[in-house]
Amino acid sequence: MERRRLLITRRLTEAVEARARRDYDVVLNEDDHVMSAAELKDALTDVDAALICITEKFDGDLIAALPERFKVVSTFSVGTDHIDLEAARARGLRVGYAPHGVTIATAEIAMLLILGAARRAPEGERLVRSGNWQGWEPRQLLGRRLDGKRLGIFGLGKIGQALAQRARGFDMEIHYHNRRRLPEVEERGAIYHDTFEGLLEVSDVLSLNAPSTPETRNIINRETIARLPQGAIIVNTARGDLIDDEALIAALREGQVAYAGLDVYAGEPKIHPAYRELENVFLLPHLGSATIEARDQMGFEALDNIDAVFAGREMPYGVV
Ligand code: DGY
Repeated sequence: MERRRLLITRRLTEAVEARARRDYDVVLNEDDHVMSAAELKDALTDVDAALICITEKFDGDLIAALPERFKVVSTFSVGTDHIDLEAARARGLRVGYAPHGVTIATAEIAMLLILGAARRAPEGERLVRSGNWQGWEPRQLLGRRLDGKRLGIFGLGKIGQALAQRARGFDMEIHYHNRRRLPEVEERGAIYHDTFEGLLEVSDVLSLNAPSTPETRNIINRETIARLPQGAIIVNTARGDLIDDEALIAALREGQVAYAGLDVYAGEPKIHPAYRELENVFLLPHLGSATIEARDQMGFEALDNIDAVFAGREMPYGVV
C-alpha cells in the first residue's frame, strides 16, 4: 500500500519521530526553524497530513489553499488557538490535538512558578550569579510561606486539577472558577466561585489555567487586578493573551501584585520589555510541557489522531 506523506513542522522527540517514520513518509523540518507562512503553505502542497506545533498558524487563508489530498492536521499541543477551527470545519479538514501529555508537566511548572514567586527564587539566583552575595542575612529576600494561603485556580480542568493536587501537598486552600461547577469527585474539596470576581477576591495566589478564547483574552486587567488581595501572586502557564501586560506591569510596580510567575506571553517569543526590568517577576520560556515524558506522549497522541483518520476511525483526540 502506498505510504502517506506526513509533514512534521518541528523536530520532536526521538521516539515520536521514529514512530512517525515507521508509519509514514515523513517530511521533516531538519533544522527546526520556525516556518514562514509561505514556506508552510508550500510544504503542504504535496502531503496528506501534518503534525504541527503552536508555532505554526493554521489560519483561514492557509486552510483554503490546502490541496484536496490533505486530510488531517494534528497539533502537538493541548491549545488549539493557532488553528482556525471554523475554517477547518468549512473545508471538511479534520483537526486533532494532544490533550493529556501536557497535564502533569504543566502543573509542575505552575507549582514551580508559585514556589519561585513566593520565595523570590529568581532574585536569589541572580544574586548568587552576580558574585555580590555577601552571605546569610536575617532579612535577605524574605518571601512568603504557602501553607494556609488560598490558591485561586481559573480553569479547573485537567491541568488545574493536577496543580490543585500538588498545591494540597503544600497545605494550600484550593478555590476555583469555571463556567460550570465540577462534580464533587473532581472538586476534591476545592471551593467553587460562580464568578471570576468572586475567585479573585480570595486568591492570595492566582493561577491561570484556562484556554485563550474571546472571553478570556485580557481577563487580567486593571479592574480585575484591583479585586485581588493586596500583594497577591499571579502565575500564568496557559496563554499570554489572558493578561493585559500594561496592567500587570503597573500592578507589579505598585505592589498590588507582589510577584508574577510567567511561562507564556502575548506575542511570544517577544515579551513586553518592562518584564525584563522588573525584579518581582519569575520568567520562563514557555516550558510548561517541556519534559521527555510529556513530549513523547503529546507526539503519540497527535499521531494517534492521524493514524485514526487514515484507518477510517474516529480520532481519539479530535477537535473537528
Ligand atoms: C500546549 O500544549 O498548548 C502548550 O502550550 C505547548 O505545550
